[in-house]
Amino acid sequence: MSKKIFLSGIQPSGRPHIGNYFGAMKQFVELQQEYAGFVIIVDYHALHSLRDAKEMRENIIAVLLDFLAIGLDPKKVTIFKQSDISEHTELTWIFDTITTMPYLMRAHAFKDALAKDKEIDVGTFNYPVLMAADILLYSPDLVPVGADQKQHVEICRDIAMKFNNVYGETFKLPEPMIMKDVAVVPGTDGRKMSKSYNNTIPLFAEYEEIKKAVMSIVTDSVGGFPKNVYAIHKLIRPEGELKKIYEEKAGKYKELKEMLIEDLERFIVPLREKRKAFEKDIPKALAILKAGGEKAKKIAAAKMAEVREKVGVNVY
Ligand code: ADP
Ligand code: TRP
Repeated sequence: MSKKIFLSGIQPSGRPHIGNYFGAMKQFVELQQEYAGFVIIVDYHALHSLRDAKEMRENIIAVLLDFLAIGLDPKKVTIFKQSDISEHTELTWIFDTITTMPYLMRAHAFKDALAKDKEIDVGTFNYPVLMAADILLYSPDLVPVGADQKQHVEICRDIAMKFNNVYGETFKLPEPMIMKDVAVVPGTDGRKMSKSYNNTIPLFAEYEEIKKAVMSIVTDSVGGFPKNVYAIHKLIRPEGELKKIYEEKAGKYKELKEMLIEDLERFIVPLREKRKAFEKDIPKALAILKAGGEKAKKIAAAKMAEVREKVGVNVY
């Protein structure tokens, strides 16, 4: 029996932090043990906010190296970029013709942008439809995403159902796998760790960066127990051990932070080294991306041929 399939997409947008790792990236590495996978670098999605060609190129390569460094295995997971497969945008157009504006206007991302009085481009409005094409071309069983993306997967299912109703059974409905069990990792200021808040500990940080970030963690605490420090610490050391240490060293924030720095360094070193090794051979990493694209293209082209047949544009 063939393996079940998971599929997810990541925007090429800057350095990942440990919140991204524990909240999302790590799950892909775990899923690849049981599932065949597709991980798509969604560069066309990123275009709505990234309009600098040099930065786009750098970010695409950076995210590729990040995923190879954390252990995504190209033999198990097809890693490719969206812009290599023209079927994604082609299928988006066909979906556009069966999706109504009032329906898309209910999307949270659109409503948020509207509430902020932003000038909304058509690409941002249409974002969920491109995401539906990303998913449906590859018939995955499971789509692991953060809670913020749940609605987009539901929109994808609705679009698949609509197409199947109009043109006959074509697309498999994917199940969202919401990574909600993963607690939100707090940043150095106690809010959710996020690139937009400048409160991160980068996943591939150098020692000095780790030190600076940890020392700046806000230590609002109850009874000498610094909850933000602890919340990060427990990601990398068993709570059974930690509880005792934090009780013994109640109120000794500096010592606890120093211990966290050393533990983080120990955790990050192998990842950092692996990333550096890949950085030394960018052509090799790019060859993996290209080969992934070639593999994905075959699957996407076959699905698209079926779609063209169903809508009746294949006359030769
Ligand atoms: P950021 O907020 O830094 O811009 P993204 O929105 O790009 O992060 O998130 C990418 C993925 O990482 C998403 O799946 C998201 O759910 C997860 N993620 C981001 N920040 C955290 C966090 N602090 N804790 C847990 N998961 C997170
Ligand atoms: N919208 C997702 C995000 O911002 C990225 C994404 C694009 C995606 N296409 C996808 C996720 C397909 C899962 C499946 O995080």
